[in-house]
Amino acid sequence: MDEKELLRTVPLFSELNDDAITSLSRLAARRKYPKDTVVFFENEEGDSLFMILDGRIKVTILGDDGREIILTMLASGDLFGEMALLDNEPRSATAIAVEESELLLLHRNDFQAVISENPAISGALIKVLSARLRRANHQISTLALLDVYGRVARVILDMAREEGRRLKDGRIAFRRATHQEIANRIGTTRETVTRMLKDLERQGLVKIEGREIVLQPGFEKAFD
Ligand code: CMP
Repeated sequence: MDEKELLRTVPLFSELNDDAITSLSRLAARRKYPKDTVVFFENEEGDSLFMILDGRIKVTILGDDGREIILTMLASGDLFGEMALLDNEPRSATAIAVEESELLLLHRNDFQAVISENPAISGALIKVLSARLRRANHQISTLALLDVYGRVARVILDMAREEGRRLKDGRIAFRRATHQEIANRIGTTRETVTRMLKDLERQGLVKIEGREIVLQPGFEKAFD
């Protein structure tokens, strides 16, 4: 795919006309990040917006005790790093490539120029931010209202819906995340997640199939 086709795959830019895409392709830089490299740290000054062309990025906050809280996992088409550009505050979280990832970078001034020349981008950006706030509200309710068993089940359902695929029989299969990753999304321990998953398996609500977790009939109804 050439640079311009690639830019069109980023939802934020999908409405731009050809001229705008051409000027954007001159401004944006492509960069590869090997697995497990940090794109930026929380509290750093930020001067770029990032769009994911390929790979997966973990957005995370480290507690004083070294514990990690995963805010979200982002994949191709998603953007991040816009907050520091919009409010001139430091980075609100750390971004780490959890797989080899290819990102598109846009510098602060270029980002601002692109927005002012293409007001439709502001609308698209507001949509992205609203979707993120909805998701964060959902996470807050999960953390505040459910016990740890409910939290594990809910985060599994969220992950399955966000990144999984529907099988022909209606079940959802998704990447077998590590128990530590699931734990870090809901502020619990790896051991607790292992215990809860065993329990869900015993009840016939989840099945581990190779490198995937498959939600069994009844799971969605029970934990939605
Ligand atoms: P910025 O603050 O510049 O750097 C960290 C980035 O992580 C932030 O911009 C957002 O792009 C992203 N981010 C922060 N909090 C969340 C969240 N709750 N959900 C999804 N992305 C987030």
